[in-house]
Amino acid sequence: MAKVIASAPGKCILFGEHAVVFGQPAVAVAIEQRITVSLEVLEKANDEWRIDGMKFIASKHPHVKALRSRMWQKRAGAPALSIHITGDIPPASGLGSSAALSVAASACLRAARGRWLCAGGKATKPEDWAEGFSSQLMDTDVYSDVVAEIDPARRMGKNGQGVSHVHGELAIDVDECALLGHAVEAIAQGGRASPMDSSVCAHGGFVLLSDKVETAADWSYTRTLKTPEGDRTWQVHTLPISSEDQDVYLVIGNSGVHAPTSQQVAKVAKAMSQEPQRMKEIETIGVIARRGIEALLKGDFEAVGRAMSENHLMLRGLGVSCQELENLVRAAAPTSLGVKLTGAGGGGCMVALTRNPKQTSEAIELAGGRTLISKLGNTGVRIESHEGLPFWKSVAE
Ligand code: PMV
Repeated sequence: MAKVIASAPGKCILFGEHAVVFGQPAVAVAIEQRITVSLEVLEKANDEWRIDGMKFIASKHPHVKALRSRMWQKRAGAPALSIHITGDIPPASGLGSSAALSVAASACLRAARGRWLCAGGKATKPEDWAEGFSSQLMDTDVYSDVVAEIDPARRMGKNGQGVSHVHGELAIDVDECALLGHAVEAIAQGGRASPMDSSVCAHGGFVLLSDKVETAADWSYTRTLKTPEGDRTWQVHTLPISSEDQDVYLVIGNSGVHAPTSQQVAKVAKAMSQEPQRMKEIETIGVIARRGIEALLKGDFEAVGRAMSENHLMLRGLGVSCQELENLVRAAAPTSLGVKLTGAGGGGCMVALTRNPKQTSEAIELAGGRTLISKLGNTGVRIESHEGLPFWKSVAE
């Protein structure tokens, strides 16, 4: 049987939500909770795609639809698939479940399709991919379903290099998964998506997003998106933080209140245009985030916690908290190093940094929240298993 399984983690914002929309830095961390995607080839040539045992209706699954058009074109010989999605990231709660799905699915498709490689071994740079490298070639046009424009002579191995085909882990490029994840998020959300979720779900660990290159972090790449408001550019960085041997955890509390991100973002935008002097509050969040980043890099989790709590006070001042979130924040505070709402607010989740995860979790549950416990900084996208790869080869021969 031909089958491939990949998973990707969810994310939690530690600092800088909302202020990042105005160019300030924000930090997110990969959590233990993951989405797992499995793909199987449907045996009969004319089979229709299936998802979780049902007929696949493309309009109900915009992320998968967008990935299919970029990576799995029927006209190029790609077979129909049966997809299964499982996981423990609650949907629509600001924890990156749709990005984790997109990133894991992109890894599955790439592993199953494989990739043409210039002969001569391992691909270490974009030029090594005879079949292109999406994150280099289509960086500024996430809507393109042209995966790569490669000189056909090069692709056919006529420049003296020859080509070979790789599949499974060897074909995966994590940057490409991040780019595709961002692209399909943007398509599914009417053109507005920051690369935060897709980058964290792909790379794991800690990711810092800012409008400018931040010297405190390791710069990874620039991401650009054509949004309805014009071109938007972000600098994506990773933070070299080792928290494995630290006895410190995140407890995420879900308020169960649904509040669309776009509404909360619009609320802050309106406040800023009506009272421009309030931009000081956004700048203060930036100052707090930078202090939090410094503390994370030093491994000073007491200071990280203090910065998180200060960040929460600023978010509350911006008007993006709500009574349910405040109840959970208050319940978690006595057993935590720091506590704040996470993501867009108005509902959704809060997060506590704590050395007593059990106690903190119980306190949040008593106050009416559903909790998840996670250590900080988890592995990004990974292939869990595969057999019978590749499912097909794009026609390069
Ligand atoms: O709710 P989430 O986790 O998708 O977070 C939204 C973060 C905001 O800063 C509020 C919006 C954004 O696009 O960055």
